[in-house]
Amino acid sequence: MNSIRSLSAMAAWSRRLHREGVTIGFVPTMGALHAGHRALIRAARLACDAVVVSIFVNPTQFGPREDLAKYPRQLRLDRALCRAEAVDVIFAPENHSMYPPGNQTIVMVPQVARRWEGEARPHHFQGVATVVTKLLCLVQPDVSWFGQKDYQQAALVRQLMKDLNLPGQMMIYPTVREADGLALSSRNVYLSPVHRLAAPVLYRALQAGAAAVRAGERRGAEIRRCMIRVIKREPSATLDYVAVCDHLTLEPIARIERKALLLGALQIGGVRLIDNMLVQVHG
Ligand code: PAJ
Repeated sequence: MNSIRSLSAMAAWSRRLHREGVTIGFVPTMGALHAGHRALIRAARLACDAVVVSIFVNPTQFGPREDLAKYPRQLRLDRALCRAEAVDVIFAPENHSMYPPGNQTIVMVPQVARRWEGEARPHHFQGVATVVTKLLCLVQPDVSWFGQKDYQQAALVRQLMKDLNLPGQMMIYPTVREADGLALSSRNVYLSPVHRLAAPVLYRALQAGAAAVRAGERRGAEIRRCMIRVIKREPSATLDYVAVCDHLTLEPIARIERKALLLGALQIGGVRLIDNMLVQVHG
């Protein structure tokens, strides 16, 4: 396994492989790798000849009161996981080479970024859009993988790849969960044992929403109420938002016609959790 830090070495490696006709799969991450990341890496391993995993805790997507300084960093463990999954290259650029003094270009995807996480975390998505654009330009993948866990992020990346004609195809991988339904996240390590027990409430709320849809409910407001009821029963949870949205535009919908996205975010013990679920109406 190759570890690359320099941007020019990364770009040169990709150019060489493309010349040789090798397909490149790409999984961008911020490290602290878990089974969710591993699933994305395995999907890339199956689909492409060579796999690049980037590990970069991107400062521009963290707000001033967010957890940039304490974000879990565990490069040795991450390396071991990548080696076990037969990753070809770990691309771990340094802050000063990704954002040298004087850099000023920012990528924005205003409509997709407007609501939900974009509202709760101003500037977050322009940080994500900018770094993903840079990473895709450097790695030049044939296919890159993103997780459904961060649904709005995946929607934003899809839009920016289309708008900027960025290289390769994009795949969205289903959310990997703990046995009790909690979506795996690098931030779950912040949960105290008591809060960890309470954390699956968000998944249970989404399940309650999906169950209401299966039982014939089509009204967005009613489905939303079902989800809120579940969250209100957990005293340690502070609701941020739950929504019934169009799965493409992420705009709230009053009535489900065919497909919809149930979306939610809450705080437990100061830890912010997000999750989502797609629902489909048959007949
Ligand atoms: P990070 O949180 O490390 O996540 C990297 C990728 O793993 C993202 O596409 C995310 O959606 C996916 N992922 C995380 N948890 C998952 C789970 N439980 N199941 C399936 N996929 C999961 O997301 C980022 O990093 C950054 O914003 C990044 C895109 C790298 C840009 O900095």
